[in-house]
Amino acid sequence: MCGIIGFSGNVRAQDVLLDGLQRLEYRGYDSAGIAYFKETGKISIRKTAGKVRDLRAICDDNEATCGIGHTRWATHGGVTNRNAHPHKCGDVALIHNGIIENYHELVSEYGLEDRLISDTDTEVAAALLDKFYDGEDAIGAIKAIVPLLRGSFAFCILFKNHPGEIYAIRNVSPLVAAKCKEGTFIASDLTAFIEYGREYFIVPEYAILTMTDTEITMQDMDGKAIEPEMTEVSWDVTAAQKDGYPTYMLKEINEQPDAIARTITPRISGGLPNLSDDGIPDSFFEGCRDITIIACGSAMHAGMVGKSLIQEMLEVPVTVAIASEFRYEPPVITDESIVIAVSQSGETIDTLEALRLAKKKTKKTLSIVNVKGSSIARESDYVLYTHAGPEIAVASTKAYSVQMASFYLLACKLALVQKKISEDDAKKFMENLQNVSDSISAVIAQSDKIEQLTKRMLNANNTFFIGRGLDYTLSMEGALKLKEISYIHAEAYAAGELKHGTIALISEGVPVIALATQGHVYSKVISNIREVKARGAYVILLSMDEKITDRAICDTHISLPKVDDRFAVFSAVTVLQIIAYYASVGKGLDPDQPRNLAKSVTVE
Ligand code: G6P
Repeated sequence: MCGIIGFSGNVRAQDVLLDGLQRLEYRGYDSAGIAYFKETGKISIRKTAGKVRDLRAICDDNEATCGIGHTRWATHGGVTNRNAHPHKCGDVALIHNGIIENYHELVSEYGLEDRLISDTDTEVAAALLDKFYDGEDAIGAIKAIVPLLRGSFAFCILFKNHPGEIYAIRNVSPLVAAKCKEGTFIASDLTAFIEYGREYFIVPEYAILTMTDTEITMQDMDGKAIEPEMTEVSWDVTAAQKDGYPTYMLKEINEQPDAIARTITPRISGGLPNLSDDGIPDSFFEGCRDITIIACGSAMHAGMVGKSLIQEMLEVPVTVAIASEFRYEPPVITDESIVIAVSQSGETIDTLEALRLAKKKTKKTLSIVNVKGSSIARESDYVLYTHAGPEIAVASTKAYSVQMASFYLLACKLALVQKKISEDDAKKFMENLQNVSDSISAVIAQSDKIEQLTKRMLNANNTFFIGRGLDYTLSMEGALKLKEISYIHAEAYAAGELKHGTIALISEGVPVIALATQGHVYSKVISNIREVKARGAYVILLSMDEKITDRAICDTHISLPKVDDRFAVFSAVTVLQIIAYYASVGKGLDPDQPRNLAKSVTVE
């Protein structure tokens, strides 16, 4: 949700900024801009609606070595050149990720109307800063305005009379910074500058940063110096590149077998789940009477798989709450409840706020997070890091799979601690989990066949995903994936519920993607499929049968590797991801950057 970068150093800032923005583009790609100090000490701005490549096209050659850059996901004000960042007001140029909730009040309270030319909340912050800036004391101006702002923000700021310096501050919205031999860097996330160095630090909230070409200093709002807590990145620059694939999404689908192995293998010892390296004690899993899972989007769908599994293995109620809803309903949890927050980025504001609310009720919070050191990871009592590596495509694939795998690990651990499963059965369970990487690879090997069948869907206005039990939870993810990257309307339905209304929408040729991997409801699902088939649907069936040729059941059959039913989700969802991917590509769309979406949603 908006990507920001700043650089001051001894190489051309424009190159660093544009390359960094290209990597941050997954956070938003409505418009892009940079600001830099010219040799005269003046601040120059280039910005445009459109993508980073459009910005590149309007940038001239300049040798500036200090500047800031922004890629936008519009919240306040349409996608126009004027609303693109950076915003310059008098002696101040600023970029922003977040939302200033009280910007209207600030405009009237401080008489800023005449200073504004855009429709953004960000420009109000720039105008306010300029009002308080005396031409000398940059930090003083920041200290004066920050207490006036309500909302979330990460700012990078250039002040006239401070050439070569970047100032930054954040509340909630993420920022990381690093010092390398080329200079100092700051950005929304590491992918922006990973090629320059491996050591970085997470900018603490409300720390005021001053960056020069050689130094980063920090102080709190009272002027006390803060030392950065350095940390080292665990992946390299190639992990954030396409590596020969045409798109990030295809690369990430293909990375799933390895990502799952990386997440699971180090947490198995003697064939059993072991979370001691994560610092999660067995006592965490004892005596829990109920579990609430909070998340958004695909992470929430992974949570639904977790719910099905844990509920069955543990016989305790598990609730999956959409984080943005959880926040505004009285949470039905006690101090004995476990709350699990799931998030790839660890920065999704709704999930973070839901976690903060949950923490008021229970000390048993655990997060399943991919990005090391992110806010959700830091604020939960315990963290289970997934090791998917950077996920760049907006539509989540490998992060979703490792989240599911983490739930399998947790379910087994919970069941063992609560003596609901024998050690032998737990070992078998973990062995099955380790084998899912192979079954995903087997499905990826069928990509060409899957691509062919998506041709049938390209002109569809509506599609349906149906299944029962775990297959129903996957249907939701399959439908979401198809909608977000191919813009084909898709609806997920519990197969047995279809006849209570939605079946009215089935007519000749409507594609129905049916999942039938769960033995205990297999014949029921097949009956439901016959019902839609009889009404003219074009059925694509996913099951673990070797072959189904009966045209009264399906038009196309995808055979999934035979595994224990509970583990079929991994190969099945891979098929659904590939379907969505080729539907998007088949329609000539960019699956990595679907319209209107952003990967990391740091606004409410
Ligand atoms: C956005 C992304 C989704 C993601 C969701 C939750 O909507 O487009 O792919 O599942 O946010 O993100 P998180 O980082 O919390 O997993």
